[in-house]
Amino acid sequence: MAQSLASARNVAVCPGSFDPFTNGHLDIVDRARRHFDEVVVLVTGNPTKKTGMFTVAERVALIQSAVADMPDVKVDSWGGLLVDYTSAHGITALVKGLRSSLDYEYELPMAQMNRRLTGVETFFLLTDEKYGYISSSLCKEVARFGGDIGGLVPPAVMQAMNERLREVK
Ligand code: PNS
Repeated sequence: MAQSLASARNVAVCPGSFDPFTNGHLDIVDRARRHFDEVVVLVTGNPTKKTGMFTVAERVALIQSAVADMPDVKVDSWGGLLVDYTSAHGITALVKGLRSSLDYEYELPMAQMNRRLTGVETFFLLTDEKYGYISSSLCKEVARFGGDIGGLVPPAVMQAMNERLREVK
């Protein structure tokens, strides 16, 4: 019994749009990996968010650079239902960050729907107070108007955002 427990791979998926990946996301991934053998950061399509600053491939590359020193973290993308990805890979856990009751209201129906569809469980980590006000959309808005987002996103993300904003000017 102890042997089979020790050999079971306990994998969690951290899903999101990640347009772009912030230091708040990075903190959740870093904390999730302490409780799972492997964490997959999964860039998924959000039908309510039509256009992005970065393509899915660019988001994946930026996340890969941010987690380069975390060998137990993989990055992938998926265009279908999240539960189809988890089922196909035998994954039974999702991890998401909660900043506030607003996040809770948004996340609760998705967690319940996902659980109804396949039984996949969603585990919520409370966002560290340092990152409670950070969102991808707020970072983009501040950056677009020339505000400083240093320390709010990984350095490679900040560089890519600055380049993208220069391109569109
Ligand atoms: O970072 P976001 O945009 O809040 O993440 C939401 C996301 C992408 C995780 C959610 O929209 C999602 O799971 N999309 C994949 C499609 C899907 O499974 N939709 C049904 C959700 S119950």
